[in-house]
Amino acid sequence: MDQSLFTYDIVAEDPKTHARAGVLHTPHGDIPTPIFMPVGTKATVKGLPTETVRELGAKIVLANTYHLAMRPGADLIEEMGGLHTFMNWHGPILTDSGGFQVFSHGDAVKLSDEGVRFIATDYDGSHIFWSPEDNMAIAQKLGSDICMQLDQCPGYPAERSYVERAVELSSMWAERCYRAHTRPDQALFGIVQGGMHLDLRLRSLAHLESVGDFPGYGIGGYSVGEDHETMFETLEPLVSEYMPLTKPRYLMGVGNPTTLVRAVAAGVDMFDCVLPTRTGRMGTAFSSEGRLNLRNARFARDAGPIDATCSCPVCTGGYSRSLIRHLVTQKEMLGGILLSQHNIHFLLHLMQEARAAIIEGRYADFVSSWMSGEGAADY
Ligand code: GUN
Ligand code: ZN
Repeated sequence: MDQSLFTYDIVAEDPKTHARAGVLHTPHGDIPTPIFMPVGTKATVKGLPTETVRELGAKIVLANTYHLAMRPGADLIEEMGGLHTFMNWHGPILTDSGGFQVFSHGDAVKLSDEGVRFIATDYDGSHIFWSPEDNMAIAQKLGSDICMQLDQCPGYPAERSYVERAVELSSMWAERCYRAHTRPDQALFGIVQGGMHLDLRLRSLAHLESVGDFPGYGIGGYSVGEDHETMFETLEPLVSEYMPLTKPRYLMGVGNPTTLVRAVAAGVDMFDCVLPTRTGRMGTAFSSEGRLNLRNARFARDAGPIDATCSCPVCTGGYSRSLIRHLVTQKEMLGGILLSQHNIHFLLHLMQEARAAIIEGRYADFVSSWMSGEGAADY
């Protein structure tokens, strides 16, 4: 499949780390990297109008094939003009395959070479079978700019033999997704699995490279219960020594600020996570002082913004910690909306600053100053 619309230009390489700054071209716009991608699972970044998401500076958003296939259905979205028109977001969109969601169904999932059989316990309990070809047909109807292969994401801890089997299945499915994917205006990314075993990660990557010329690679199977050091033991060598230099590398489902800063140093280009919106709805804010729980009574009479160093519309717009504490403790919807905006801005801004540092050749200093700051402490 011709994927020449999706070229990736590396514009700068940091001299002391493996960090790079790039631009990924897509039919709906250019994506500067490194980048954080806000998550809009069900065709909405929860609580935020799309113009707000754009004004915050997001260049690409995620949506989820599994959830959209369940409701309102891929045919309906196609009939409504495709996912961009349907969700009123006219920039780039990446759809995850839903492999991850399917596996979070636990016992209700049965795997075979043919595909995955599961019970949609989070919807109407219907019995569903998905082959890699079915998954690609759905992604192509939705019409996202980037879609992900169907894969199996093992949890942690897991038996090596179980992870090995997940690599084999994901490799086989990568091949079938690659053959079934025919939209030239949509990029298909393969996904590297292999858990916390570097040799299995390398086997997975080698297989993807033998399947064909994927325009980018997801790195899946992290942030599944392991601690940060365990993750970096395999992530760092995988990315910095083995992944192809000329292709974007997307670390899936990882969104805590310190991990982003360190993963960029290893050479990761793209991230997504529900963390800023999910924890925001629960009353948590990222800040230069670390995570803040705005439900805390110590904020009851605090007239200051969430973070005095933050340039987001909430922190510069007159919303006090006192008001936000009141809103979240009273379960007023504006509380979660304001915190989601602030948290998304925080990660978008962190990656903009990282990019500027890479371009200026001072990313190593950026990492040390982040790691020695208060913000790094509790992630
Ligand atoms: N999101 C977070 N991790 C993963 C993964 O391993 N696979 C997929 N498809 N999505 C993810
Ligand atoms: Zn803010």
